Amino acid sequence: MKGENKAIVSSLLLLSTVTPLLAERTVETMKEGWFFTKGRPEATTKWQSVRVPHDWAIYGPFDRKHDLQVVAVEQNGERQSTAKTGRTGGLPFLGQGTYRRTFNVADTAGRAITLIFDGAMSNAHVKVNGVEVAYWPYGYNSFFADVTKAVVPGENELVVELENFERASRWYPGAGLYRNVHLVSTDRVHVPVWGTQVTTPVVNANEASVVVETEVAGATPNEKLQIQTDIVAPDGKVIESKRHLYVARGQNYRESFLVRNPALWSTESPTRYTAVTRIYRGDELLDTYSTRFGIRSLEYLPELGFRLNGKPTKFKGVCNHHDLGPLGAAVNRSALIHQVEMLKDMGANAIRTSHNMPAPELVEICDSLGMMMMVEPFDDWGFRPKSPNGYGSVFGEWAERDITNMVKHYRNSPSVVMWSIGNEVPSQWGPTGMDELQMLQGLVKRLDPTRPVTCGMDNINPVLQNGFAAALDIPGFNYKPDRYEKALGQLPQGMILGSETASTVSSRGVYHFPVSFEKYHNTVRTPDNQSSSYDNETCDWSNTPDIDFYMDKQPWVLGQFVWTGFDYLGEPSPYDTDAWPNHSSVFGIIDLASLPKDRYYLYRSQWNESDKTLHILPHWNWPDRVGEVTPVFVYSSYPKAELFLNGKSQGVREFNDSTLQTRCRLMWNDVRYEPGELKVVAYDKDGREAAVKTLRTAGKPDHLVLTANRKELLANGDELAYITVQVADKEGNIIPTDARRVKFAVKGEGSFEATANGDPRSLSSFQQPEIELFSGAATAIVRGGKKAGELRFTATAKGVKPATIILQIR
Ligand code: GAL
Repeated sequence: MKGENKAIVSSLLLLSTVTPLLAERTVETMKEGWFFTKGRPEATTKWQSVRVPHDWAIYGPFDRKHDLQVVAVEQNGERQSTAKTGRTGGLPFLGQGTYRRTFNVADTAGRAITLIFDGAMSNAHVKVNGVEVAYWPYGYNSFFADVTKAVVPGENELVVELENFERASRWYPGAGLYRNVHLVSTDRVHVPVWGTQVTTPVVNANEASVVVETEVAGATPNEKLQIQTDIVAPDGKVIESKRHLYVARGQNYRESFLVRNPALWSTESPTRYTAVTRIYRGDELLDTYSTRFGIRSLEYLPELGFRLNGKPTKFKGVCNHHDLGPLGAAVNRSALIHQVEMLKDMGANAIRTSHNMPAPELVEICDSLGMMMMVEPFDDWGFRPKSPNGYGSVFGEWAERDITNMVKHYRNSPSVVMWSIGNEVPSQWGPTGMDELQMLQGLVKRLDPTRPVTCGMDNINPVLQNGFAAALDIPGFNYKPDRYEKALGQLPQGMILGSETASTVSSRGVYHFPVSFEKYHNTVRTPDNQSSSYDNETCDWSNTPDIDFYMDKQPWVLGQFVWTGFDYLGEPSPYDTDAWPNHSSVFGIIDLASLPKDRYYLYRSQWNESDKTLHILPHWNWPDRVGEVTPVFVYSSYPKAELFLNGKSQGVREFNDSTLQTRCRLMWNDVRYEPGELKVVAYDKDGREAAVKTLRTAGKPDHLVLTANRKELLANGDELAYITVQVADKEGNIIPTDARRVKFAVKGEGSFEATANGDPRSLSSFQQPEIELFSGAATAIVRGGKKAGELRFTATAKGVKPATIILQIR
């Protein structure tokens, strides 16, 4: 959080010191003042007052009937249609919704007025004063409307009509104005939306060239203008500045700068520069436009893999859907920061925005915190779409416009290191696939010649035979790591990316016995409708992480993007067929309540190179297993360790190549459970004791324990804190199996926002301030208010002492 705050403050300082006349252009983000109704309004409609971003469906209630899809999921190898319960989350997002709001325009003379929608779910019709100013079908993309002609000085009415169709998605899409809406007022002559492109053709430790290309809108032919661009260093100092004549004939304006000793953007040091472009007519300043960019080099080398600023770098990536668990699709900056911080602590360095355009906040956060991105627009193209009423039905008409907005929006972001043009599109084996690929890849490269293009492919045989895989800059394979090596020899690129890997399934804190790794696809369905946290269960097509770690050791493997970083609403595989109430995924390394599963520490032990990991599983509260074999695994960044149960050594384990699992898990498979103390002592490579971790069987429940991810929030009404709720015994040992209901209350400067427990079967409302613990834990999310003061959060439950935590709102 600290780094992020610093970044915000420095950018504000920068804007106020170097662009004193920024008021020439005004940008208002329209959060308050909206009214919403489901359906279309009638005379009797009672409008609900809402704050945007807003997801109308996340309030539930859950029901299996919502978007119940009776389908055969072909890419999972299914032949017969069955009822896919909870496939899109079981929430009421289908149908129509309408938003309205008024806004003021001070003056229209000589001005250009634009509305920008970061994303509206979906099929948006935007009307200003009754005139339709925009229509945009794809709910994930940003779009804008020039409303200059539709507005009047003074008050204007804005109406947004949305509609979500059934069978348009394979996961929970959310519903409504779930991303921000901005009103931009500029001079007639201005830099249009996403109207700059900054590239850095030469980058080395001593110098970099920076090329700024600017679009100028609204000028009359041959109008004489001056354009000044300042290059502002990460410390806020202007290091380069140029001002020259621009004679308007519709052309872009290009300037080149030399930056000496550039501060290179990297995941460890995400430094950013700003290009501040000003347009003048004579001495009159008409417009000021700031573009944040980074200086860094990307190299994708055959046989040797990816290099960031010349440094060999593996993609330790995760795929994420856009929903924020109990917050739904409604975007929130501090929730995204929390996600990115957790992933960074795990050692991840990249996110794939599967399978749609991200929120601009996420890209900005990845830029400022140092997380690379693969930005991906589509799950379907035109041929045999997986979701018949989804993007495939508009692909032909809209793909060019959608790609254009996506690439123009994010091409100046240093975090974006490659584009994907699609995920497992049936076109990869269909008759039109190569045409669609060439159209999309060609368009991306015209708009951004600096980054390579990939595509997530799952049908390996056809794409190796029909030219599809060979035509991409980077062949991206979804799963099938055992086939990478052979495929490499059949491909001209000399490299392979694990564009989607693993799809291991696990429910936090749930363990199944006996524990086996015999099967490559270990699909297990047990009566609890949960998956085991021994991290040995998969779906029919997926695998455990072990083989992907092994493949990453090959230099020609660029790395991987694990399915998924966080659990998401929908796709509750392997409990997706008539298995209601399962309605959220268990693919996540982190659960729906943002609580890490054991798997988090497995990835951390392999990926985090700056901090050590030592983690034991399972928990040690098994009253029904006394004397039974209860394997103990340790995820460790130390090379060996010794396990002790009640002081008695269970032996030393060391990583070794005898099986895939022993390369990355220390396993004591024959431990017989007895209550007490389970201790692991880790040794360094010289055999010296390096770290110790102890689990103790917990006694009787005594009190609640609260842990917050942050103690301070800015008093802007937008910031959230995540509070973990657990039960402990008298000695403070956490009770890992407690399932009691806990109630929450918030007093002071803030409010209760949402709760979740990570149980894929829980039908508890996310917005009621109470929930049952799952595997001994739940998360409560609180929102800081707009006034400085204290936010007092209290949790109470039957049979245990309550707990209170105080957050400072500043
Ligand atoms: C992949 C697909 C993902 C998700 C995943 C589940 O094939 O690309 O969207 O469905 O399977 O394992």
